[in-house]
Amino acid sequence: MKTSSLVLQLATALSLADSTLANAIYQEPSLEAARAINAWKRAAPDAPNGYTPAAVDCPSTRPTIRLANGLSDEETSWLEKRRSNTVSSMREFLVRMNITGFDAGAYVDSHAKNSSAMPNVAIAVSGGGWRALMNGAGALAAYDNRTPNATNTGQLGGLLQSATYLAGLSGGGWLVGSLFVNNYTSVQDLINSTPDQSGDLWQFSNSILKGPESGGIQILSTVQYYDDLYDTVNAKSEARNFNTSLTDYWGRALSFQLVNATDGGPAYTWSSIANDTEFAAGNTPLPILVADGRAPGEILISGNATNYEFNPWEIGSFDPTVYGFAPLRYVGSNFTGGKVDSNQQCIEGFDNVGYVMGTSSSLFNQLILNLNSTDAPQLLKSVIANVLTDLGEDQNDIADWTPNPFYHFNNKTNPNAANKRLTLVDGGEDLQNIPLNPLIQPVRHVDVIFAVDSSADTTADNGAANWPNGTALVATYQRSLNETIENGTAFPSIPDQNTFVNLGLNKRPTFFGCDSSNFTGDAPLVVYVPNTPYVYNSNVSTFTLSYNNTERNAIIENGYDVATMANGTLDADFPACVGCAVLSRSLNRTGTTVPDICKTCFTKYCWDGTLNSTNPGKTFASSKLVQIKVSAAGTFVPNAMGAVAAIAAAVFLML
Ligand SMILES: *[C@@H]1O[C@H](CO)[C@@H](O)[C@H](O)[C@H]1NC(C)=O
Ligand SMILES: *[C@@H]1O[C@H](CO)[C@@H](O)[C@H](O)[C@H]1NC(C)=O
Ligand SMILES: *[C@@H]1O[C@H](CO)[C@@H](O)[C@H](O)[C@H]1NC(C)=O
Ligand SMILES: *[C@@H]1O[C@H](CO)[C@@H](O)[C@H](O)[C@H]1NC(C)=O
Ligand SMILES: *[C@@H]1O[C@H](CO)[C@@H](O)[C@H](O)[C@H]1NC(C)=O
Ligand SMILES: *[C@@H]1O[C@H](CO)[C@@H](O)[C@H](O)[C@H]1NC(C)=O
Ligand SMILES: *[C@@H]1O[C@H](CO)[C@@H](O)[C@H](O)[C@H]1NC(C)=O
Ligand SMILES: *[C@@H]1O[C@H](CO)[C@@H](O)[C@H](O)[C@H]1NC(C)=O
Ligand SMILES: *[C@@H]1O[C@H](CO)[C@@H](O)[C@H](O)[C@H]1NC(C)=O
Ligand SMILES: *[C@@H]1O[C@H](CO)[C@@H](O)[C@H](O)[C@H]1NC(C)=O
Ligand SMILES: *[C@@H]1O[C@H](CO)[C@@H](O)[C@H](O)[C@H]1NC(C)=O
Ligand SMILES: *[C@@H]1O[C@H](CO)[C@@H](O)[C@H](O)[C@H]1NC(C)=O
Repeated sequence: MKTSSLVLQLATALSLADSTLANAIYQEPSLEAARAINAWKRAAPDAPNGYTPAAVDCPSTRPTIRLANGLSDEETSWLEKRRSNTVSSMREFLVRMNITGFDAGAYVDSHAKNSSAMPNVAIAVSGGGWRALMNGAGALAAYDNRTPNATNTGQLGGLLQSATYLAGLSGGGWLVGSLFVNNYTSVQDLINSTPDQSGDLWQFSNSILKGPESGGIQILSTVQYYDDLYDTVNAKSEARNFNTSLTDYWGRALSFQLVNATDGGPAYTWSSIANDTEFAAGNTPLPILVADGRAPGEILISGNATNYEFNPWEIGSFDPTVYGFAPLRYVGSNFTGGKVDSNQQCIEGFDNVGYVMGTSSSLFNQLILNLNSTDAPQLLKSVIANVLTDLGEDQNDIADWTPNPFYHFNNKTNPNAANKRLTLVDGGEDLQNIPLNPLIQPVRHVDVIFAVDSSADTTADNGAANWPNGTALVATYQRSLNETIENGTAFPSIPDQNTFVNLGLNKRPTFFGCDSSNFTGDAPLVVYVPNTPYVYNSNVSTFTLSYNNTERNAIIENGYDVATMANGTLDADFPACVGCAVLSRSLNRTGTTVPDICKTCFTKYCWDGTLNSTNPGKTFASSKLVQIKVSAAGTFVPNAMGAVAAIAAAVFLML
């Protein structure tokens, strides 16, 4: 990077601003803030598992890469616990869904002992920045029996407790990560948490560019916040020359909003979820995040990016390319041909939770491209444009996972086998913006996927921007037809986006793949849950970085309505229909007659194969219910000058 030219640009930018800007950057920290910083400095940098990956003694069985020809032993034994733990939740849930003429309790009781007969449920939460986090949070709150009133008539609480898998991508990954890294807390507890108890957890009014509010338990000014980001990332790059990238800063910054620990918990790792008591006991679903393999500067097309997943034990891919899994805890070690040679040390601490969440959401390139269309101040635009153009020359808009754990692994099929570098990007860059890939692996035997879609597919040309129109499902469907890459995955037929819009499949829950005799293989039934307006126009831009709590809660409430069809008020049978979707594959396996109400449901909610591919023109999504009033809608940054200072400080520190 051309350091001197950046300094020059910054100096110029700063001289354009008034003196308060310089003061904002260089102001003395308050006494309170200084105390907080000292407290942090005493606590974090000396911690054995800080943000800096460190050498440890290799375990007696040295870590190896395995072929992706099955599940890990850890997942297999965890599944035994989880599948049996879901039985009683599922019984309670299905009984409550009121499937008329069907004794759900008796059905579960007679098949409980044979877990492979029982429904295997997964939930997938799409990408889309803070919009996806919040809309997804509304849906998860609706599915969670811990949410007040979620087990009343018309509600879907208990679906989460019945689920085996919970996958997240990008903004959806922040949601999943935030629940799991915080002791599997609930959405309700997260939105009830106050800055006093939980620092700046889910306080989105403080833009990530500005950092946490000075005044919570994490008393940091914007400059101190960037100082903290810089120190932790710098320590990583100085240790054994680990490559760092913008994603390290991004992930550290995200952690301040998502991880309930001082300074965003620099020592928390994704693999530590495996040691979470509740998770290990099978009392939670299995959290999975996804990312795409992409070399710097390469353009992804939907069909050819390797899809990676992060689960608590492993990082890897079922794709026929890499086709392997590495033990996540030891990523950062020098694996060659699937082994860490005896002359090499083992590394731990690379898989920081924020870094994993940041990897799945590395959307900087889009941020840059979209900056000029936001209401950001011109000065900020020029500073960022200049800075990022320089970073762009490095094509550093990736997350660096070097050393490549899959170096010399599967030479014949792995296009990256000869490369010591592994670089990953936002899981939605290949248009598969819903994390379905891990859930359609035949070895996981998932029966039904609740696919919560908060994608921003539409533009103003379609009538209104930032609503989903099925693009993510289309991408996964197309990939499942590509013989070179699909590797045994099966996915139900999905129509084109014009059909989605013309038939309104983007405005209400729609079931795909109801008739399993229609395709070969083990395709799950997909319950598509598209973001659509009920009580709030939740089509906020992916690049809106700040939301006050009223707007946050309105989007979450809208997401709750999206998932429940407004508590079942738009269709009193909807809960029964959800129950039918959950049961569908299981009924087939056990040769049980499909109840009449389920047949009615499938007529109502299943896509029946009809196409209408004519251009729908401009269609406006109109609200289904009375809108919640939110006084000040989110803006790009709450305090323009503060943000300029923040960016300038960040760039300054990165040099
Ligand atoms: C169950 O569904 C039937 C109609 O199928 C309805 O008459 C009944 O009120 C429902 N019960 C509850 C508790 O919602
Ligand atoms: C739960 O439902 C009751 C009765 O409808 C209502 O009074 C209460 O406000 C609801 N609680 C929440 C947290 O929504
Ligand atoms: C984590 O949650 C479990 C179950 O809700 C609770 O029993 C436990 O005390 C919590 N642990 C911590 C450290 O808060
Ligand atoms: C965050 O941590 C604090 C202190 O341990 C705790 O009181 C609070 O309940 C936690 N918040 C959430 C949402 O888990
Ligand atoms: C976490 O669990 C693994 C086994 O799954 C064990 O080897 C490791 O020591 C545990 N780590 C901690 C910090 O408890
Ligand atoms: C199918 O996959 C291969 C390999 O990943 C890729 O090169 C090709 O472009 C894909 N075809 C389509 C139509 O996407
Ligand atoms: C994917 O396709 C793009 C466009 O055709 C190409 O530039 C890129 O090299 C391909 N990547 C892989 C891994 O095949
Ligand atoms: C998946 O890909 C691997 C590696 O190329 C191959 O060995 C395996 O047979 C494939 N599986 C299926 C079901 O096609
Ligand atoms: C891994 O290899 C690189 C050189 O390729 C070296 O700099 C680094 O120290 C090695 N890491 C360990 C843990 O031995
Ligand atoms: C955005 O605006 C800045 C300043 O007006 C300009 O220098 C830059 O080229 C623009 N970037 C894009 C991607 O349009
Ligand atoms: C993979 O390729 C590397 C470099 O060509 C070679 O050294 C290694 O032996 C190969 N591994 C296998 C298992 O063929
Ligand atoms: C659907 O979304 C795509 C972008 O993913 C957009 O190009 C297309 O115009 C949209 N179509 C409709 C009908 O909304």
